[in-house]
Amino acid sequence: MSQQAMSTSAQSSTARMPTAQVPTGAPATVSADDLRRCVSGILIAHDVPQADADLLADTLVVAELWGHASHGVLRLPWYVDRLRSGAMRAVTQTAVVQDSGAVVVLDGQDGIGQIVTARAVEIGVERARSHGVAAIGVRNSGHFGMAAYFTRIAAEAGCVAFLSTNASPAMAPWGGRTKAIGTNPWSIAAPAGRHGVVVMDLANTAVARGKIYLAKERGTTIPDGWAAAPDGSPTTDPAVGIEGLILPMAGPKGYVISFMMDVLSGVLTGSSFGADVGGPYEKDRRSGAGHLLLVIDPAAMGDPGEFAARAEQLVDDTRGGDLAAWAGEILVPGELEDRSRAQKEARGISLASATWDSLRVLAAQARVPVPSVRPA
Ligand SMILES: NC(=O)c1ccc[n+]([C@@H]2O[C@H](COP(=O)([O-])OP(=O)(O)OC[C@H]3O[C@@H](n4cnc5c(N)ncnc54)[C@H](O)[C@@H]3O)[C@@H](O)[C@H]2O)c1
Repeated sequence: MSQQAMSTSAQSSTARMPTAQVPTGAPATVSADDLRRCVSGILIAHDVPQADADLLADTLVVAELWGHASHGVLRLPWYVDRLRSGAMRAVTQTAVVQDSGAVVVLDGQDGIGQIVTARAVEIGVERARSHGVAAIGVRNSGHFGMAAYFTRIAAEAGCVAFLSTNASPAMAPWGGRTKAIGTNPWSIAAPAGRHGVVVMDLANTAVARGKIYLAKERGTTIPDGWAAAPDGSPTTDPAVGIEGLILPMAGPKGYVISFMMDVLSGVLTGSSFGADVGGPYEKDRRSGAGHLLLVIDPAAMGDPGEFAARAEQLVDDTRGGDLAAWAGEILVPGELEDRSRAQKEARGISLASATWDSLRVLAAQARVPVPSVRPA
């Protein structure tokens, strides 16, 4: 369906859709499964193959479940715009362009970042099992959403994994005021015996840029220290921050970590880097994002049973430490997201009103049912 035909059909079919029990402009609580079906259906209507549509839908729904709505369904209209313009190809065709066993370079050929990265993880785990360690460089990929979605897959398969990506410019180098460096997030995940997996995942900015977009959607201000206006002055207005600069985490430390993540993700892999990386909210521009995935099989370093016992002990010792006066408990990396998921799977996912409204429009255009709305 052409873009124009879609907007025309959107206007005429929205009225006919037997969908929402909530008015436009109100938040909606929906089930994860309904949401997955709806998002996947929208992607299929834009020529994404079913298995890839299901995977991309799952990444967005899991972001909602983990409590990171900034990387959830809020992003769907941006991805759809990029599919419609052809900046992101609907059918992802990856090519292995270098292969020396433990080191592989994968070309994503402007496909969907999540699909490219899932393929990299598949190769990485397989190669780490054969060689003890694997380094998968990924070039010409796209925005892959949450890094932990992919490192967790490797950790659940028994491996330790590191994944970095570069991203479109968001921050200025320390001392500068020109947006030149991305948020460039990275994640490390590891199996932890009876505790499941431990996983960290963070952008090197004070916050992921998506959280500033979410504040704009929700009509709230942002805390001091998240962003600056284009002239470098502080702001609590998310719209001004989006136009301006996102501040690095931990001052110059965040800047230098982000710089080096671009060296790993873009420079080393042969992908775009620095200001040449396109953003997920840019309709017509190819992304060029690169990623680096490192996978280690603990069995190559010693007895896997001992590794599991040591990881369990680290979790137990960490949780059992004395509490600060302000805290009720200590969480280990990844536990916050696990708890959020358990809660939202039971109670449903609450979508911001703007996210819900744009989902309804896209569903109407694609002629797929919107999720039924639960009582909040
Ligand atoms: N693909 C991209 O281009 C891109 C760009 C930016 C961010 N992102 C994604 O956005 C997501 C959010 O990034 P962020 O920097 O806002 O993360 P965040 O600040 O919400 O969390 C950072 C880390 O701290 C942990 N954490 C937070 N509170 C904790 C507590 N009380 N106890 C223990 N651990 C705690 C979290 O589990 C997480 O591992 C990430 O998944 C990241 O990959 C993606």
